Amino acid sequence: MLKRILFVALAAALSQGVFAQEEGDPERGRIIGYTCFGCHGVPYQKNVYPTYPVPKIGGQTYGYIVSALEAYRAGERGHATMVAQANTLSDQDIRDIAAYFVSLNEGDDS
Ligand code: HEC
Repeated sequence: MLKRILFVALAAALSQGVFAQEEGDPERGRIIGYTCFGCHGVPYQKNVYPTYPVPKIGGQTYGYIVSALEAYRAGERGHATMVAQANTLSDQDIRDIAAYFVSLNEGDDS
């Protein structure tokens, strides 16, 4: 019984992201972040339209991507498009997407 309570508490904590400060799930991020790629030109880390001023996020760090998305979501950083995007994301979504974008850097020799 005690084990079960601990398990439930742990699962709840995990789903709240208590222990997941650092790591998101890149596989989930790949799926839920799919809409981002149209503008940001990931996964190949090149802009789809080179003349369109969309920042490259494939080469950013995990912390940078998370804080940028949180700032858009909180309205601290204003850009109508990105605020609208970030508003649809939970904390876990942000972590997972950031983990996926960071994972794209691995093995990049360009
Ligand atoms: C409709 C086009 C579009 C879509 C879709 C889009 N973005 Fe953006 N994104 C932009 C533009 C334009 C900017 C630059 C905004 C600014 O100047 O603040 C930006 C900025 C960003 C930044 C900040 C980059 C930096 O260098 O500061 C991050 C991080 C980001 N987007 C992540 C995402 C994620 C994650 C998604 C998917 C949930 C997404 N974007 C979907 C157009 C888009």
